[in-house]
Amino acid sequence: MLHLRLGQWIAVMCSCLQLAFCSVITVENKGYKGIVVAIHNTVPEDENLINNLKVLFTKASEFLYNSTNNQLHFKEVTIVIPPTWSSKPEYIALPGSFFSTAHVRVDHANPEYGDIPYTLQTGGCGEPGEYIHLTPWFVREINGETKEKFGMPERQLVHEWAHLRYGVFDEYGSPGDPRYPMFYIERGKVRPSSCIRDIQGWIQNSDGGPCSILPGGQVNKECIFIPDMRTNEAKASVMYMPFIPSMEGFCDGSEHREHNTKAPTKHNTMCNYESTWSVISRHEDFQNNRVTRDVTVDFEPIFRLIQPPSDQKGRYVLALDVSGSMNGRPMKLLHRAAARLVEDRIPDGAYLGIVQFSTDARILHPLTRVDNRTRIELSRSLPSVDDGGRTAIGKGIQEAIRVLEDGNVPPEAGLIILITDGEENVLPLISDVVPEIMVAKVVINAVAFGAEASEKLENITIMTGGKGYFFANINGSRPSSALDSAFLESVTSQTDVDLQPVQLKDEMVELHERMMEKQVRIDPDLGKNTIFTVTSPSIKTVEVSIMSPTGTIYDYTSPEYSRDDDQKERIQIFLPQAETGRWRILFTRRGYYPVVAAFTVTSEPEDTEQQPIRVRSWLSDMQLKFPAYAKVYAEVQKGYRPIIGATVVATIDRPMGGAVDVTLGDDGVGADVTKNDGVYTGYFTHFNGNGRYAVVANVVNDGQAKLKYGIRSSGAQPVPKAKGSLNNTEPAKEFSIADLIPVIVNTTDDNDNTTDGEPAPPFDRTSDAGAFRLDDWESNATDIIPPGDIMDLVVLYSHENYDTNMTEVTLQWTSPGDDLDSGNVSSVELWASVDIDTLFGDVHDASMIQDMNITNGTLVPLSPGLVQHITVLLTFPNASDTIYFAMKAKDEAGNISPKHNVAAVHVSVKKMVEESMNLRRELLEINQTFSVNGTDEIYIDFESVEDYSTEIWIAAMVCYVLLIIVLVIIMARSMKKESKYPVKRQNKEQEL
Ligand SMILES: *[C@@H]1O[C@H](CO)[C@@H](O)[C@H](O)[C@H]1NC(C)=O
Ligand SMILES: *[C@@H]1O[C@H](CO)[C@@H](O)[C@H](O)[C@H]1NC(C)=O
Repeated sequence: MLHLRLGQWIAVMCSCLQLAFCSVITVENKGYKGIVVAIHNTVPEDENLINNLKVLFTKASEFLYNSTNNQLHFKEVTIVIPPTWSSKPEYIALPGSFFSTAHVRVDHANPEYGDIPYTLQTGGCGEPGEYIHLTPWFVREINGETKEKFGMPERQLVHEWAHLRYGVFDEYGSPGDPRYPMFYIERGKVRPSSCIRDIQGWIQNSDGGPCSILPGGQVNKECIFIPDMRTNEAKASVMYMPFIPSMEGFCDGSEHREHNTKAPTKHNTMCNYESTWSVISRHEDFQNNRVTRDVTVDFEPIFRLIQPPSDQKGRYVLALDVSGSMNGRPMKLLHRAAARLVEDRIPDGAYLGIVQFSTDARILHPLTRVDNRTRIELSRSLPSVDDGGRTAIGKGIQEAIRVLEDGNVPPEAGLIILITDGEENVLPLISDVVPEIMVAKVVINAVAFGAEASEKLENITIMTGGKGYFFANINGSRPSSALDSAFLESVTSQTDVDLQPVQLKDEMVELHERMMEKQVRIDPDLGKNTIFTVTSPSIKTVEVSIMSPTGTIYDYTSPEYSRDDDQKERIQIFLPQAETGRWRILFTRRGYYPVVAAFTVTSEPEDTEQQPIRVRSWLSDMQLKFPAYAKVYAEVQKGYRPIIGATVVATIDRPMGGAVDVTLGDDGVGADVTKNDGVYTGYFTHFNGNGRYAVVANVVNDGQAKLKYGIRSSGAQPVPKAKGSLNNTEPAKEFSIADLIPVIVNTTDDNDNTTDGEPAPPFDRTSDAGAFRLDDWESNATDIIPPGDIMDLVVLYSHENYDTNMTEVTLQWTSPGDDLDSGNVSSVELWASVDIDTLFGDVHDASMIQDMNITNGTLVPLSPGLVQHITVLLTFPNASDTIYFAMKAKDEAGNISPKHNVAAVHVSVKKMVEESMNLRRELLEINQTFSVNGTDEIYIDFESVEDYSTEIWIAAMVCYVLLIIVLVIIMARSMKKESKYPVKRQNKEQEL
């Protein structure tokens, strides 16, 4: 029963997540449409790039079709050419900024990867990635060096596409990665981590010599696997080594496409050991791939070439609800925020139009280029009173599209900022105008004004690739600044990211006392056009002055100061050039009553070549059905360099009041997919009712933040090249440990270089992540949200005693939370088995580790996010075995964490390495070339590696016939026995 409930929970969760996938890429008659490839403005003009992109996508289209069993190909691809390049008649001149929302970016290298293509993958299994990054070199050289280095480039593109679109992960490890190593051990043999065992090749150290191995079974970092490019027959997987000529598709478990659950790959861990094809074929693209007519598939996509003009900053239409329900304060708030937007914030050169709607819709101002003259004119045409009508949102959208159709530019990519407080009650409805919206290809950002606003708003934003915001004028803790932020984000979303202002502060200031001081830090990359803004309905009773780091004071006597108590209800201090450092802001209240004011600070980069630290935040979903969770993301980067170690807190305003703070982490556990990639993630589950939840992320450097070299995400693998000739050795699928050089290194060596970086300057940032909507909330629901998954269980050390067949194993994991990552979970269970499959079936067939097995540490959970260790003493029946471990968390309501990873310890490695070492020692004594640090006690440093045996143990395997109890638990303190351990023993035997 419990399983059923869990299953349902997961099903609901998945169907919700899928809604977020309906971005602007669509599937029609077996083809993908709406893919956008954008070349960055700073890439030097080179027409070959455009031609090569066409060739690349045409070839990739065919490879995608074949590897998806003739189901999908690329049908329509838009290439966005920088405005700085020369124009051509066939280019469509379409205003807008496409780069930061493009699916594929052609841009200068991210320093961590150089020319290696990669996908920024921030979601979990089956969730979409952010973008694919290709360098100009990669595209330029597709017939030359790229091919040499990466194999057929179209295959690498399909590999990245699978990351981006289907949310599958790499099926290979990285050298030196403790969680996803390049090699693992299976039945006493070293094997490359791969989804398929059927690959022939060689292993070699980077210097051309043999690889080495630690007693723990780890192969040294410089060791690589070189596949045989000629004789391999394996047909999968695109996610492993797509450049091997025989590769045809994804691992699906069929012949030559076997899926290897034992390899410690990121894919296996993230996707619960399911094959890539099994994950991919569940994607909605394959479910919705209805073929409406006989299709003869033409692999060459239709290419649209777009070139935005260089001199304009986007096209916006404000579509404002003036129906009767806006009467009074809502209308006033809306008018003031819109006036501040138009007069203070919208950049010169942008195009703006204004529409109002209620029972009917009306164009108040056609699309007009914004400058200091038209600004006032536009502001004056903003509606300031409601018209008492009803609400026809569809009509408002239609009219807004009409505004964008003005002139000879198509409406495509124009942004409609739709603000409404009502349920639609007059035709046409939003759903009636969807076809028009799709034809016009406009983007709609919706601001839900008040709790009653139609839930259809989320649909329309998702469908058009827009963003939703929520402004609760009654219960919200952030009155007017939420509207200002939504407006500001909307109007900057269409300008180049590089030119957008950076938001340093956006907070509510409650003036209970007469005076209050706030601080903000302006970091060295910023300072240009810095704007301090304070807005409040009671602005008349507020005074503000600011002091620069060197003591210069700006107040009402300064020319930089302006205030507007009536129209805009705001005080503003504008500094064309602001000093770097800590600024102090002094708020003074003149009246008798406490005042609440919104305080924001924005600034622009000094030098657009030197990009400042920027924060971008977003939500996994805009619509959720309870029971569910939301994931909040914040990316903190300076160009392509991630900022790690920053403090990132998301504040979530809830429909029934009471804001909740969630700390977002970049530690690669819980919601966070990759450690130290500058993308911070956290779960939110503290719902308190149906309605909208507005999310804002605040980021500060508490002194721990570092600027890393470059992003690490899902990067491609270049074709491994051998040093020297391999002709005199036969390629193999697995390698004897005896062929590797045993080494002992200090296991406390921290080879985690993911934390390298230089200290980041002090900084403050804030970013509006938008809002999501929750339905089907049950106030009396019992605890149905399970604890977080334990996905980072690893064996740190083990110490075998071959006389007693006992081993002492030290394990490490990160404590999960009671509801995903929050709250203390009530218990964790550690399971062990010699059969990995047992840990995926009914885990109760494995043995549960009892307290009496624990020689150090405890299974009592720590607070979520803390790293925990225990040491357990176990017997192993056979020295050729591998013991596998998995950990589950359980809450007091009986919910169990759904997924887990598997850690392994190879009880034979120590012995084999010792033997091998003795042999070598003898040799060394002869050669006297170097000395081995001989110890009589070797601590074995294991990671997720595998089982092994060699010829030495073939004899021992005979003993296998006996159905022995596996892992008889040593009873240090008690005589109580509970061993269900040996279960699937028989299977294992048959395998052997
Ligand atoms: C607009 O403002 C700028 C700077 O404030 C000024 O130099 C320019 O003359 C103004 N243009 C118009 C048309 O008023
Ligand atoms: C969670 O558990 C830890 C360790 O057992 C304890 O120190 C902490 O106080 C607990 N937190 C809460 C909120 O109960």
